[in-house]
Amino acid sequence: MKTLVITGTSRGLGKALALHYLSAGWQVLGCSRYESDWFHPHYHHVICDLTSEKEVVSWFRGMKKLGFRPDAVVHNAGAAAMNHTLLTSIDSFRRLWEVNTLSAFLVGREAAKFWVREKVSGKLIFISTVAVPLALEGEAAYVAAKAGLEGLAMSWANEFKPLNIAVNIIGPGPVDTALWRSVPHDARAKLLERLQEPRLTSPEEIASACDELLLASTWRSGERIYFNLKP
Ligand SMILES: NC(=O)c1ccc[n+]([C@@H]2O[C@H](COP(=O)([O-])OP(=O)(O)OC[C@H]3O[C@@H](n4cnc5c(N)ncnc54)[C@H](OP(=O)(O)O)[C@@H]3O)[C@@H](O)[C@H]2O)c1
Repeated sequence: MKTLVITGTSRGLGKALALHYLSAGWQVLGCSRYESDWFHPHYHHVICDLTSEKEVVSWFRGMKKLGFRPDAVVHNAGAAAMNHTLLTSIDSFRRLWEVNTLSAFLVGREAAKFWVREKVSGKLIFISTVAVPLALEGEAAYVAAKAGLEGLAMSWANEFKPLNIAVNIIGPGPVDTALWRSVPHDARAKLLERLQEPRLTSPEEIASACDELLLASTWRSGERIYFNLKP
């Protein structure tokens, strides 16, 4: 049975991806900061704050101790905030950077260490957003944090190639989750106008992009797959 680590599986896109892979016969190792309120015989949930180095290191050590051998990681956990820069506090900027960028560094580094120690190949997928290529206004701190994540992932695509670790980015358009529903109505309308088609990205479309990367028989690394961008 193949094993996939997915971060941020308590709700939203992470939960949808976890259910997709469980129904496809994978074992899924997920996490969030709190207990999970959903269960599956092949799903293993851990409480982990991904902005804490201690907790991320301990999660990956725990996997090894329990005999799990992840084939791939989808780093999905993240948070957004719609705020004009003049109204953005340093605490808010720091929080977005920690949850979107620092967490990616910790998860990617620990996964890579795991695969190198086990002498196996691995695949890392990072969930970003179309807000980065759109340089979306009104959420500069989020865009900066996700752009940081993309820079990290693209650098790793080069750095990890000799380690046989593929690194790719998926950048969805808006997805109907708690995160999207927290965005004010007019800001949602503005964002939709910037897309090729004014519609949401479905979790199924994102799962299908993950499938292509996870099941690829040829080497695929250093790609950024965005949804619904104007050419
Ligand atoms: N929804 C959209 O419109 C949209 C569009 C483009 C990209 N994205 C990206 O897609 C990803 C998922 O978004 P979503 O809409 O599904 O968000 P969501 O509904 O708010 O879910 C976020 C998940 O991340 C977890 N999480 C947050 N902070 C965490 C932390 N410090 N440690 C561990 N887990 C943490 C949350 O669990 P707890 O809060 O329980 O810890 C939850 O499971 C994010 O990276 C987001 O940037 C979303």
